[in-house]
Order: sequence, then structure tokens, then C-alpha cells
Amino acid sequence: MVSPLKADLAGPRIDKGLDDVYVKETSICFIDGQRGRLLYRGYDIRDLAAHSTFEETVFLLLEGHLPNREELEKAKADLATARTLPPSVLRLLRSMPEHAPPMDVLRTAVSYMSSFDPERDDMTRAANMRKARRLVAQFGTIVATHERIRKGQRIVRPDPKLGHAEDFLRMLTGRRPDADHARIMDVAMILYADHAMNASTFAATVAASTLADLYSTITAALSTLKGPLHGGAIEASLNTIERIGHPKAAEEFVLNTLRNKEKVYGFGHRVYKTYDPRALILKDFARRLAEMSGDDTYYRIATEIEDTVVRQLASKQIFPNVDFYAGLVFHGLGIPTDLFTTVFAIARIAGWTAQVIEYWEDNRLLRPLDWYVGPKDLVYVPLDERS
Ligand code: ACO
Repeated sequence: MVSPLKADLAGPRIDKGLDDVYVKETSICFIDGQRGRLLYRGYDIRDLAAHSTFEETVFLLLEGHLPNREELEKAKADLATARTLPPSVLRLLRSMPEHAPPMDVLRTAVSYMSSFDPERDDMTRAANMRKARRLVAQFGTIVATHERIRKGQRIVRPDPKLGHAEDFLRMLTGRRPDADHARIMDVAMILYADHAMNASTFAATVAASTLADLYSTITAALSTLKGPLHGGAIEASLNTIERIGHPKAAEEFVLNTLRNKEKVYGFGHRVYKTYDPRALILKDFARRLAEMSGDDTYYRIATEIEDTVVRQLASKQIFPNVDFYAGLVFHGLGIPTDLFTTVFAIARIAGWTAQVIEYWEDNRLLRPLDWYVGPKDLVYVPLDERS
């Protein structure tokens, strides 16, 4: 490490974007960006997508191992019971301005909830795990309940007999989804549950490193997820598909975008230099949902965009990331576009909490340096003498 004094003489190496900087050891999530592999606690995401459930994946991420039958039943029951929102949070959701962006509502609700949690400042691992499970349980209810309030619809209370993903769709739409739709939602939530030291997890970790409480760390993560270079890309991807409107217009749209030196949302990744394995699974879901609905226009536009981007940008190793087909999948599940980033969050809360609790086991304040390039010996001029 370059000491500040030494750096002052030589000039430091500046890791803009922190591309190659490791900040902790972890046993939660592994990404092989060259081969397109993603593991949670050692298990391949493709196996989890094929065989696991969101509840089981949450247990795996938080506890570090797959549950036995008894542990899983208890974990499912705990999550299901905790899904109900306290009356104070319901009141808050009712009082939010009609046009408040859903991510802002979720972030505000989490911040507010901390005031009512008697365990907020209990920093023992056991208390943080309990808070983590409560947050995982309640995120979906917050998003679905606010959606119905802003549409003037009757609130649908949680049904503890249903799985987490299925109940989220039911609370959101007012209808119990069929088995295929429920399973697609469940797997999409598995795919989004964690992704190592991404921008929002890093934001949560910075807050955690100051020993701020879990709610504060999650508020930081939500603020960071919102941007279009991160979780906001799902919404931007679907907007692109809708704007193009017809498969024949897709190629020209992409070529124009690239000519204007603009980004095509849903493509490229800091870590993956090949296909993101999650994108391949979501692409298949997008195709199946298009078949089920009998209208594959958006799916064909998406594949045209993909073909063109990959053809044009193969040399830069740009491929679809998880967000590209997720937009189509969420749309096919009947989720309104401006909720997409919140849906990402109701899954990622599992990873954020697991990562933060792991960081606290060997905490160190995250405090990087910046290299000052401004003037140093200016003479203070009194206000009256300034031109
Ligand atoms: N469309 C067009 N060109 C792209 C794209 C894209 N989506 N992504 C990268 N490139 C190009 C850049 O223009 C740059 O080209 P240049 O070297 O000629 O200047 C090169 O590829 C490297 O791009 P960077 O932006 O420097 O790469 P970085 O690692 O910083 O970016 C990022 C990763 C932010 C995800 C980027 O690919 C991007 O902006 N993608 C679009 C937004 C998006 O989909 N975000 C979701 C990411 S996944 C997630 O958060 C869950």
C-alpha cells in the first residue's frame, strides 16, 4: 500500500471505479466472469435455478449451508409470518405522495421501519440475522402494498400458506398466479438474490463498516441500486424494447445508439466478459412467457437487439447482462415497469444482509483516499475585495 506521504512524492495509482480492488474475503458468492459462472455458497446458480426455491436460497445465503427439511420448514414459516407489515408502515405507505418513485417509497419505508424495531441497535449476530429475515420477509409486501395504494386498489394482505414469490405476485396483482408464473417469479428472485461486491452491496458495506445499524446499511444499498447503471437498467431495457416497437426496427436502433456513443441498457458488465448465466435463464423465461401470452413481438425485438449488440461489440466483450431479459420477464408476469428495480431489491435484500453480516465478522472501517489536484497556497481574500 502506498502511504499518503510516499504518494505525495510519486503520485498514487488511482483505481477509478475500483475495478480491481478487493475489499474482503467472502464465502457467499463467486463469479467467474470469463467463463460465465456464478455460485452461491459453492452451488452453481443453474442448479439452484433448476431445483431450489427463493426461501431455500435465502437460508443458504444467510446461514451458509442448504437447510435440512426441518430447517427449511421453519425458515419458510418464519418468513411467511413476518410478511405482514406493522400498522405504522401501512400508514406511511398511505401517506406517500401519489407520484413518489417506488424505489424512493421502499427506501423511505426501510428507513422508517428502523424507528420501530426494538432490536435496531442490537449488533449481535443473532439479532442481525433476525432483522435480516424480517427485512427479506417485508420487502415484497411493502412494494406490492404501495402499488395497490397508489392505484387506489384494495390492499391484499399476505397469505402465509403461499411461497414468497407467489404471494408477492398475488399481493401485487390481486390474483393468485398459475404455477408456471409463480415458478418463474421464484427463480427470477433466486437469480437476483446476490451478486458479490456490486455497487449496492459495496454501498451497504461502507455504511456497515462504520457500525451503522442494518437498516441504515440497507438504505444505502437501495439508494445505490436505483441508478440506471445498476438496478435501474431493467426498466431502461424494457423502455428500449417498447420504444423500438417492431423487430425490424431493432437493428437500426442499436446501430444508431452505438453511432451516438450511447449505451444499450442491459448489456455489458464490470465482471462478466461473456454471457451472464442469469441472462441465459431469463432469456428462456422471456421466450416461454411470450409463448404463453401468444404475442412474441417484444421477445423478437429483444433477440434482434441482442444479435446486433453482440455482433457489433464482441471485440469489447459486451453481452446481455441479467437486466436485459429480466425486463421482459417482469413485464410478462404483469409487473408494472416502474416497479422493476424494487423487484430486484426484494430479492437482493437476501444478499445485502448476508454480505453485511459477513463483513461485520471481521469489520474494518472502509476509508479510501483521494488524490488532491487543486491549488494549495491560495491567499484568503475578504468578501469586499473580491471582484
Ligand atoms: N452499450 C454500448 N457500449 C457499451 C456498453 C453498452 N451497454 N457497455 C459497455 N460498452 C462499451 C463502452 O462504451 C466502452 O467502450 P470504449 O472502451 O470504446 O469507450 C467499453 O464498452 C467499456 O465500457 P465501460 O462503461 O467502461 O465498462 P464498465 O465496466 O465501466 O461498465 C457497465 C459496466 C456500467 C454495466 C456498462 O456496461 C453499462 O453502462 N451498461 C449499460 C447499463 C447496464 O446494463 N447496467 C446493468 C449492469 S448489471 C447490474 O447492475 C445488475
